[in-house]
Amino acid sequence: MTNDAPVFAPALSPKEGAEAATALFREVFEAEPDGVWYAPGRVNIIGEHTDYNGGLALPIALPHRAHLALRRRKDRVVRLVSPQTREKVDVMDLDTIGPKGTPGEVAHWASYIAGVAWSLERDGFENLPGFDAALVSCVPLGGGLSSSAALECSAAVAIDEVAHLGLAGTAQEPDDAGRARLVANCVRTENEMAGAPTGGMDQSASLRCREGHALELDCRDGSVTHVPFDLAAEGLALLVIDTKAKHSLDDGQYGARRAACERAAEILGVELLADIAIEDLPGALDRLSATDGDDADELVKRTRHVVTEIDRTRRLVALLQDGRPLRGEKLAEAGRLMDASHESLRMDYECTCPELDVAVEAARAAGAHGARMTGGGFGGSAIALVDADAGHDVARAVADAYRREGFNPPAFLDAVPAAPAGRLA
Ligand code: GLA
Repeated sequence: MTNDAPVFAPALSPKEGAEAATALFREVFEAEPDGVWYAPGRVNIIGEHTDYNGGLALPIALPHRAHLALRRRKDRVVRLVSPQTREKVDVMDLDTIGPKGTPGEVAHWASYIAGVAWSLERDGFENLPGFDAALVSCVPLGGGLSSSAALECSAAVAIDEVAHLGLAGTAQEPDDAGRARLVANCVRTENEMAGAPTGGMDQSASLRCREGHALELDCRDGSVTHVPFDLAAEGLALLVIDTKAKHSLDDGQYGARRAACERAAEILGVELLADIAIEDLPGALDRLSATDGDDADELVKRTRHVVTEIDRTRRLVALLQDGRPLRGEKLAEAGRLMDASHESLRMDYECTCPELDVAVEAARAAGAHGARMTGGGFGGSAIALVDADAGHDVARAVADAYRREGFNPPAFLDAVPAAPAGRLA
């Protein structure tokens, strides 16, 4: 062990976030914003790569948020700035922007924000006003914590209010049906404007979570249950380990996993893999391994992950809802479910990487009750369920293991279930 303190990435407080976004807005646009809206990043406790298969996921919203100071315009122009781009404001027009791969393609992060207006217009909200906006985000970029969904969802709640769409309600009194519609628009933005074929878990977490709760999300019908998840009251904490390993959802790997699941569902004659009950899994796997083609083994592994992961999610939700304290055998079982999820993602979904595996192993060896990768994988972040007073020791053990392996130093976050997207100022 070394004495270097592990680095924890702090969240900006709501006040700091509002002030920073407002100051940048004033500096660049020389005017007052109409308000500051925010949307959180997320971590998923369990239920990975299940969303686009119609299964269950269990995310929480993070205190780490994207903050967007925004002012409605009278024309259809959109101007965007962030601290990294303050020298060169992105300027575009809602009449000419379009999906990735078309002449109207919007570059980089601007597509996540302007794209939401583009999507809402396709959803029937015609002729939306343009806007000027300044973004300040403390969701680590590319860390697998839904930094892009946080951008989309902050734009969604801001546009909802300045254009009087009446969908979101407030963070304290959310309109869940309206938010589900905003989720669909944010997902379309990510799929079509940014070209990342993701499911809807991240945007659902950012818009539909509740403070102090995890969100049981049924991606078959879009229904949600708010599961009490007050780890501090149980003497526990959820440590996020940002591996700093490259993670991208539009480089083909994520799309290849999704395509394999769709092919397996087609062979099995179901619409989505969530339609395979856990009891029917052995028969389904037999059928897949008997298919012609050299991808039979791949289809077996992907399907086994998805169906068992949905079952693990159901079991963890039932455990968390049984009203007993999260201690003793119950805590051990929760940890086992998280560990099994990681093993399944490593062996069957093949979407972990050495940095994720080392983080999880080192956290467990240092006393974590359970640990797993979270989000899309191939880099990004892992989570570890730890005793409240053990977070720093576990973090230090992971940082030491990274040093031994020659990896870049990881960063850490405290994951406290926070509020969904809303307005700050
Ligand atoms: C990424 C995607 C989500 C989900 C997860 C894996 O975060 O954006 O839609 O598929 O990966 O669970």
